[in-house]
Amino acid sequence: MCGIIAYIGNKPVMPILIQGLQRLEYRGYDSAGIALVEEGELTIIKTKGSVDSLSDLLRESKHQAVYGIGHTRWATHGVPSDTNAHPHASCDNKLTLVHNGIIENYKELREQLISEGHKFISETDTEIVVHTIEKYYQGNLEEAVIKGIQDLQGAYALALISAQEEKIVLVRKQSPLIIGVGEGECYAASDIPALLPYTKKVVILEEGDIAILRKDNFQVINSEGKEKRVEVIETTWDAHLAEKSGYPHFMLKEIYEQPTVLKDTLRERVSEDQLLLDEADLGDLIPNLRKVYFGACGTAYHATLVGKLYLETLCDLEAETEVASEFRYRDVPWVKPAVGIIVSQSGETADTLGVLSRLKELSYPVIGITNVIGSSVSRESDRTIYTRAGPEISVASTKAYTSQMLVLLLLALSWSKKRNKLNYEKERYYIKELKELPFKAQQVLDKSELFLEIARELKEVKHLFYLGRLQDYYTALEGALKMKEISYLHAEAYAGGELKHGPLALIENNTPVIAFLSNKSIAPKMLSNFEEVRSRGGKIYLFTTLDIKESSFRIVKLPDSDMLVSPILNGLVLQLLAYYTARECGASIDKPRNLAKSVTVE
Ligand code: G6P
Repeated sequence: MCGIIAYIGNKPVMPILIQGLQRLEYRGYDSAGIALVEEGELTIIKTKGSVDSLSDLLRESKHQAVYGIGHTRWATHGVPSDTNAHPHASCDNKLTLVHNGIIENYKELREQLISEGHKFISETDTEIVVHTIEKYYQGNLEEAVIKGIQDLQGAYALALISAQEEKIVLVRKQSPLIIGVGEGECYAASDIPALLPYTKKVVILEEGDIAILRKDNFQVINSEGKEKRVEVIETTWDAHLAEKSGYPHFMLKEIYEQPTVLKDTLRERVSEDQLLLDEADLGDLIPNLRKVYFGACGTAYHATLVGKLYLETLCDLEAETEVASEFRYRDVPWVKPAVGIIVSQSGETADTLGVLSRLKELSYPVIGITNVIGSSVSRESDRTIYTRAGPEISVASTKAYTSQMLVLLLLALSWSKKRNKLNYEKERYYIKELKELPFKAQQVLDKSELFLEIARELKEVKHLFYLGRLQDYYTALEGALKMKEISYLHAEAYAGGELKHGPLALIENNTPVIAFLSNKSIAPKMLSNFEEVRSRGGKIYLFTTLDIKESSFRIVKLPDSDMLVSPILNGLVLQLLAYYTARECGASIDKPRNLAKSVTVE
């Protein structure tokens, strides 16, 4: 949700800002802008549209400035336009800033500032921030920031510069911000991948931190101005992980990375004869645990549906999951002893963090499952389990989803052992299944021609259905989401038995129904549901691990696998289908319209 980049050093800042924004564009892409200071003069260049439009504007530019800030926007307050694009400047054009988040009390502050003589030109909540800082500015930016942020309510990551001081000031509250530490230079960005081409040394700012970046050093202070000691960490992510590396889209690259990601996620957690997930070891709590509360949004929420099934099946443990934006505000009977499990690729999703804080307030221990080291989820949880998916750039989540399910399966298996529900033979059986998983994932990828063929048929329709029962229903939900998200076709997911309670009315000649079947016990029921579809003219595309002989369907046989492992393999299937359909429809795959990857607002 909006991307921030900043640089101060000896190199020309413009290309660094533009490249940084290109890497952050998945966070928002409706307008972009930069601000730089040269010989005491502040210049702001911004435009509606993508970072490429901004780059075109700058083509003839001769600026040689060595520090500045940049922003790519996902509009919340105010339509995408040149005026609403960031950076926003103070009345005297000496201060400017970029913002990720939402200022909740912006209306009151705006009225107050107008009555004090400030003039506003945009419709954004952000513009009030720069005027608020201007109000307190007396030649020292961080001092003005310390005073100014006391007036603000809401979420904000800010990067500010002044024409009078050679420094960048950063503030973090509920929106992520990272410092990159170079030799004689400092960077800042909303996330680590944007910095990978320049440095692997990063400082992850914490709630309420204020940072002052100068050429040769940086300093982090708290809201009272007291200096804080911070840890510089070295990320293991490589720059090439955040590049397309010859693939036409990040999404396809990330889909193809999954055999490796699954292998990495299993590394040191599955040996020849043992499953070990130390991060999930909550000691004596596990055998007596009565309930698990999940918190997640979007694709991560779909992973928790599968996680719930794992806990129920393998651990005989009750689990509750609901989209975080609902769950955070609901009153449910709170059971103890229980544990919270928070699942989030970015570790920064606002609603997911809302559930996390609620569970903490209720004194539940919380396990965070996230892909980003140092993210809010990892910092605020009692335990963190990393998914090891590497940077995920495409807005539509792929490898993070499958690795989340894999971690949840490992967690359920390790708790199953602790609760005396997993005997030696069963453990050996799952070890074998897990070890084979990356190879089976490759076998699914090897069928890509087949997915392309089906996609060519799907692109012709306006709407389609996804169908499944039990774990296959959860796959169907994610399948429909992925299809809507990137191809803009209208897709709906239904549990096999529910079709006749309404949606069957929409099935007509050639309506595609994408079905998943990996559970033998409910196969006869599903086959009856297919008949209901077929007799109304619907066209079934069945993806199954079972040996089904039926000439009237299009059947794609998937590698044999245990039915608890199958949602992970089905993940690749639904991703490839959505990807190729979107490509056939000519959609903007990595940056779907109106969406952003990291949703840091409610
Ligand atoms: C956005 C993204 C989705 C993602 C969801 C949750 O909607 O577009 O791909 O699943 O946020 O994100 P998280 O980072 O918490 O997993």
